[in-house]
Amino acid sequence: MNQGKSHVLSTNSAPGSYLMAAYGEGIYLYDDKGKCYLDAIGGTHVISIGHGVAEIADAIAQQARQVCFVHKAQFTSQPQEDLADFVAEMAPTGMDAVGFVTGGSTGNEMAFQLATLYHQLRGKSRKYKIISRWHSYHGHTIATLGMSGSRFVRGNLPPFDLLNFPHIQAPHCYQCPLNLAYPNCQLACANELAKIIEQEGADTIAAFMAEPIIGGAGSAIVPPPGYYEKIREICDFYDILFISEEIITGFGRTGKNFGIQHWEAIPDIITATKGLSSGYAPIGAVIFHQKMRETFAAATKKSPLSLFTYSGHPISCAAALAVQKYIAKHNLIEKCAVMGEYLKNELAKLALREPLIGDVRGKGLLLGLEFVQNRDTHQPFPRSLHIAENIMKIGLENGLILRARFGTGVGVDGDHLLLSPPFIITESQCDELVSKLELTIKQVKQSLNLLCQ
Ligand SMILES: Cc1ncc(COP(=O)(O)O)c(C=O)c1O
Repeated sequence: MNQGKSHVLSTNSAPGSYLMAAYGEGIYLYDDKGKCYLDAIGGTHVISIGHGVAEIADAIAQQARQVCFVHKAQFTSQPQEDLADFVAEMAPTGMDAVGFVTGGSTGNEMAFQLATLYHQLRGKSRKYKIISRWHSYHGHTIATLGMSGSRFVRGNLPPFDLLNFPHIQAPHCYQCPLNLAYPNCQLACANELAKIIEQEGADTIAAFMAEPIIGGAGSAIVPPPGYYEKIREICDFYDILFISEEIITGFGRTGKNFGIQHWEAIPDIITATKGLSSGYAPIGAVIFHQKMRETFAAATKKSPLSLFTYSGHPISCAAALAVQKYIAKHNLIEKCAVMGEYLKNELAKLALREPLIGDVRGKGLLLGLEFVQNRDTHQPFPRSLHIAENIMKIGLENGLILRARFGTGVGVDGDHLLLSPPFIITESQCDELVSKLELTIKQVKQSLNLLCQ
């Protein structure tokens, strides 16, 4: 800990309270005092292959010796070319153009610009708005903050008109914001998209952006069957692009290459970052459909992507390529699906023993727990109790890395946790995770004197 000495800008509410990460190995992290932590969130949903994989470090070192950086104005690099081939191969049919970015916010910002440019080149220059959902987080640039529907993120928005993008309700069946139940609802939450397009005017809307499975803003909320098929139909009808925001769900996290592949809907753009390099270097990908690539290619005077200085950085590309080859070689996406099922079952058993847990959900190793004070009514705890933050704090004391999440109800209430351990987790390590979590929840209940039904 750098108690009082650090010059690093703190994002923590208690400056000086950071732990010093000393080294990592597999699913574990160690601090400078030698204490071991099970990384149940994969360093927020980033780490897929585990900490400390030597062959990735070797690939990075080799690339740094060979070519550390080139600028896109004149050069490409072999790792960038090879990585683009690899990613296009993994992507859904027809999505074969790839641009590299530096992270999730820049990826979504790029998707926004690509979507508006696409319409502009087709003579529809008024189409600039992005519709997204409440219970969403899409990044921290000005445009992506405007797309984000999270109450907590929006609480800090500056009052720019540009950010006034429209939002629809999230497909959260456990706390349905429309007070309906599937299947009788007939996917009213998806039909909200058509309604808002009519209200705003289809000629002003460029795209609909959604995480196929909601990550941090909802902890693995999985929409019901047919949801994205309906979304695709509505987007096609109104000539609106569908952006599958896979900053978390991309590159295997849900047990398929991309989260949207759990539905029969092919997006126009996918943004995917965290799992691309498993955290070994900052990089993300914006993957877009050939129909867009062809439109851009036909417009000779317009460059499709005005990328960033560090877009396609050779060292980041070399790291990501080594990671994706490692995943393929060790069948880690299949293992993620299998271990995800195992962990979800164990969490469901924990929910039978622990009434605080109202819902267990998710796919692959993107699993969510929602905490409620009444399992019959799904009534959340009031925000003032800080259930999620207490679980995160006591979890850390118990050697379990978690991240507090809240706001799944209509207002700010609703505590939840998003678990996303590395794909290499074993059954016995899942058991260790669940038993540490159970102990942590019990201690939080005791400390807050909670009674749950
Ligand atoms: C779903 C989602 N989108 C976008 C972002 C922003 O990504 P970054 O922090 O890399 O800019 C995040 C970050 O956590 C995220 O979870």
